[in-house]
Amino acid sequence: MNDALKAFTLECQARVEQALDRLLPPPTTRPTRLHGAMRYATLNGGKRIRPMLVYGSGQALDIAWERLDAPASAVELIHAYSLVHDDLPAMDDDDLRRNQPTCHRAYDEATAILVGDALQSLAFKSLCCDPCMQADAEIRLTMVEALARASGSRGMAGGQALDLLAVGRELNLAELENLHIHKTGALIRAAVRLGALLDPDADKGLTHRLDHYAKCIGLAFQIQDDILDIEGDTETLGKTKGKDLAQEKPTYPSLLGLAGAKEKASLLVDEAIQSLDSFSDEADPLRWIARYITDRNH
Ligand code: IPE
Ligand code: IPE
Ligand code: MG
Ligand code: MG
Ligand code: MG
Repeated sequence: MNDALKAFTLECQARVEQALDRLLPPPTTRPTRLHGAMRYATLNGGKRIRPMLVYGSGQALDIAWERLDAPASAVELIHAYSLVHDDLPAMDDDDLRRNQPTCHRAYDEATAILVGDALQSLAFKSLCCDPCMQADAEIRLTMVEALARASGSRGMAGGQALDLLAVGRELNLAELENLHIHKTGALIRAAVRLGALLDPDADKGLTHRLDHYAKCIGLAFQIQDDILDIEGDTETLGKTKGKDLAQEKPTYPSLLGLAGAKEKASLLVDEAIQSLDSFSDEADPLRWIARYITDRNH
């Protein structure tokens, strides 16, 4: 990670951490167990890549930081909910997440299901009500729709359904790409879009290019996740390595081999960065994030 990306990352993480802490109900408010579990599953050291993309796309369009805190936390809340449900015994049955016991392990399955439900609602409330976002009702509605689409059965939840159906089956490349762009790509694409939606007058050519960037890195992100499941180590990853093979999940390395998967991810990152050609240095954070997606080790 270069020094400029490090500084940008720290700024984004500090902002979103504070915004999430403000949004999440206090753990002393009833129902205390649910509120404690919501905080446990959210304020636990994720990389905050999706919030960084919201801030990065906002910065590319010259939108003030404080207007981006609500969409940044909304997308992270949906992501945190998706991880809590992804780890449940009925899905990937994982014990470790962000180097801690998964939510259903630390609490119980019923609480983990409710944590996901409640984090999802909180995400939409944040887009509807946050005063610092300074957006009129029409813009808020468009943002709610964008996040709802990306999280629902035609986005992340649909991708998760395809992921479950794919267990033990051999998918072809087109089927696997479709799975990945839904389960992971859709939310990453929404993160970039949410930042851009705060400028309704933004040039359509530019927002189209931002969207293409987001599509490319969304797929690259899940390919790298598949690679790290093989090449990473559990302590660095903060989640148990080797789960995809153990659970017979089709992945890019299982289809293309490790070298083929790495080449595909790297080509996607190049394509993403190319699609930012018409931006000057205000889009540098997005360029750094794209490189980081395949450079990361967790
Ligand atoms: C993991 O996402 C799940 C996927 C969609 C691949 P991240 O790698 O962003 O996880 P955190 O938020 O940093 O823990
Ligand atoms: C998770 O994909 C995608 C979502 C949570 C929507 P994975 O199942 O590969 O994510 P990890 O590896 O458990 O983080
Ligand atoms: Mg999964
Ligand atoms: Mg999983
Ligand atoms: Mg994975």
